[in-house]
Amino acid sequence: MKTIIEPFKIKSVEQVKFTSEAEREKILRKAHYNPFMIPAEDVLIDLLTDSGTSAMSARQWAGILDGDESYAGSKSYFRFEKVTKKIFGFKHIIPVHQGRAAERILFTNLLSDLDSEGRYVNAGKGRYIPSNNHFDTTRANIEFNNGTAVDLVIEEGKHPSVIHPFKGNMDLEKLEKFIKEVGAKNIPVCMITITNNTGGGQPVSMANIKAVSKICKKYKIKFFIDACRFAENAYFIKKREKGFEKKSVLEIAQEIFSYADGCTMSAKKDAFANIGGFIAMNDEKLYTQSKNLLIITEGFETYGGLAGRDMEAIAQGLEEILEESYLQYRLRSTEYLGEKLLANNIPIIQPPGGHAIYVDAKGFLPHIPPAEYPGQAVVCEIYKKGGIRAVEIGSVMFGKNDEKGKLIPADMELVRLAIPRRVYTQSHIDYVAEVFIELAKSKKKIKGLKIVEEPKFLRHFTAKFAPIK
Ligand code: F0G
Repeated sequence: MKTIIEPFKIKSVEQVKFTSEAEREKILRKAHYNPFMIPAEDVLIDLLTDSGTSAMSARQWAGILDGDESYAGSKSYFRFEKVTKKIFGFKHIIPVHQGRAAERILFTNLLSDLDSEGRYVNAGKGRYIPSNNHFDTTRANIEFNNGTAVDLVIEEGKHPSVIHPFKGNMDLEKLEKFIKEVGAKNIPVCMITITNNTGGGQPVSMANIKAVSKICKKYKIKFFIDACRFAENAYFIKKREKGFEKKSVLEIAQEIFSYADGCTMSAKKDAFANIGGFIAMNDEKLYTQSKNLLIITEGFETYGGLAGRDMEAIAQGLEEILEESYLQYRLRSTEYLGEKLLANNIPIIQPPGGHAIYVDAKGFLPHIPPAEYPGQAVVCEIYKKGGIRAVEIGSVMFGKNDEKGKLIPADMELVRLAIPRRVYTQSHIDYVAEVFIELAKSKKKIKGLKIVEEPKFLRHFTAKFAPIK
């Protein structure tokens, strides 16, 4: 059969609330034109994130009931350990409450020196961490520790309409040049994000992962993978990279991680869990330091800030995420939305990524300059028109101000329509496309926004905006 159907049936549902356009205008104003401040109840279709928003399976819910809440050595931890070791293969795997906790532990360790009493002394200044593209929390954890986060994605990855099968790849020449420029001793770790969320949910090829690993070995630099959407990336490799057509997704994932020294993982993505994550590594010294920091800030090594039931949900979710019928449906349903928008001349990052469609707001609203945040304008308009919540990934999230307060814009002005796993049906997605098509008819009338209040780090979460008259 040609139609790829949802590989599940629905056993439990959650009511959504309908609001009028006039009500949504008021809600938006009250939220200072920032979707993070809109109460979720007032959202009809929530595409803010695919993180922690998955529908769990009956087996995951059964695991929740079966969770062992012992402080140390719980049965649920051992199940979690067994599954994660099978897929990721690292010697040490430490649970944490979510991805950024893993990042904090990693970068506090790698961007500090220890004094004679084992206390941390920040040493981030002059240390660099390259990646294809760092996600915002990864970048913030590096910068918060005084380090410098550097993005070295291939040129194709920066142009929305350029087609390339692995737009998340790292630019190998740039990486080597960069290492020579700043010196390998000043690079405590090199990362790669799979799939590349910031660059459009685009996959990284096995060849690229292998080549980055080789360069890192040559210069004795640790190589870590940000593994949030590893299963989607592995399935892209199966579909697009020669030599992997017949391999199972598990085998592909195992090969990916065999090239790395460790990984950070948010189980809120490709583990279908509502919370959780882990940090994994082979290095003994880094493991000991990470464990000690974990015990001070997250919890004992066999729960790391999670409940036993969370570890059950993660372990079960990791088994389910590798099912090919699921991954086929997942990538196809994302592509389906992308195709509908493209067919109606709404520019998106091409080809569609794994977990989200990224609308090119610069291309959609060419009359709004980056300093007036075209992505944020789209986000506000689709909420007003259709009750859809999305997130800007552009100059609000990644823009910086120079000394004079002038915006240094991000490479791209995007709006991410992230698709929660197993949550929305095809008609929900048809509705999303329809809202965009309607909006496109009067897009010339859309105006930009200005920021009226912002924090120092991760400003997109709490910044307040006002429309430009
Ligand atoms: N790395 C990547 C690539 C991510 O996408 C995220 C989270 C994290 C790290 C941090 O994980 O949220 O569990 O602390 N991304 C979410 C998103 C928030 O909406 O893309 P976390």
